[in-house]
Amino acid sequence: MAYNGSVPLARALQQQAHSMISLRKINRVYPLKGGPFYALRNIDLSIKEGDFLSIMGPSGSGKSTLLHILGLHDNAWDGSYDFAGAAVHQLDRKQRFALQKQHIGFVFQSYHLIDDLTVYENLEIPLSYRDVPKKNRESIVCDALDRFNIVGKRDLYPNQLSGGQQQLVGIARALVAKPRLILADEPTGNLHSDQGREIMELFRKLNNEDGVTIVQVTHSDENAGYGSRIVRLADGLIIP
Ligand SMILES: Nc1ncnc2c1ncn2[C@@H]1O[C@H](COP(=O)(O)OP(=O)(O)O)[C@@H](O)[C@H]1O
Ligand SMILES: [Mg+2]
Repeated sequence: MAYNGSVPLARALQQQAHSMISLRKINRVYPLKGGPFYALRNIDLSIKEGDFLSIMGPSGSGKSTLLHILGLHDNAWDGSYDFAGAAVHQLDRKQRFALQKQHIGFVFQSYHLIDDLTVYENLEIPLSYRDVPKKNRESIVCDALDRFNIVGKRDLYPNQLSGGQQQLVGIARALVAKPRLILADEPTGNLHSDQGREIMELFRKLNNEDGVTIVQVTHSDENAGYGSRIVRLADGLIIP
C-alpha cells in the first residue's frame, strides 16, 4: 500500500507489513487463431502474510495459470502485481527471478526435478540460489532428506524413483530454503492418502508456527479444509 498521507503513518506501515500479495486487474491472454483467449480475466486478489489459501475450480478454469503468475514464472500478463512491497509489473525478468529465488518455494504438479542431478543435488539447488555457503548446505539437505524419509534415496536420480517419491522430493526442494511463500499445484495428487495427510499437516505446521504463507491448488475438500480461505475460479474469473 502506498502511503498517501490520509491515514496515520504507523497504520500505513502496519498494513504494508501484513499485505504480501496484491493483484489488480490481472489478465492473461493467449492469442489463438480464433481470437484472443482469456485464461484469466480481471483478477483482483489480496493475500496477507500468514494466509493459507486454497484455489479451487474445474479443470481449465485458470488455477495453474494464476499460480504461475503468483510464482513469477509467467511474465506475459497485464495488470498490477505487488509482492512483498515490490511492484512486480515494474521489474525486469532478472529482478523478478531474484525475488522468486529469495522468497518463493514452488511445488509443481509435474515435479520439475532435474533428471541428471541426484536427489541430494536437486535439493541443494535452492540453497545455491539463496547464496547459502557450501559448508552449511549439507546439514540442511540432510535434515530435509530425514524429514521426508528419503535418506536412502539421496544418490538416486529422479527416474529411479516412483511418482510419489518424486513428488516428495519436489516438496522437500520447495521447502529446503525456508521460503516465505509456498505455492503448490495439487501437491498431494500423486501421493498415498497417508502421505498426502502428512504433507497437509506439514503445511499446517509451517503456516501456524512459522507464519509461512501458503497458496495451494486443490480439488480436495479435505485439503482445502487445512487452509483458512478458498478462492474459486471458473472460466478465468474469480467467483465472488
Ligand atoms: N499455452 C497455452 N496456450 C493456449 N491456451 C492455454 C495455454 N496454457 C493454458 N491454456 C488454457 O488456459 C486455460 C487455463 O489453464 P490452466 O490454468 O492450466 O487450468 P487449470 O489449472 O485450472 O486446470 C485452459 O483453458 C487452458 O487450455
Ligand atoms: Mg492445473
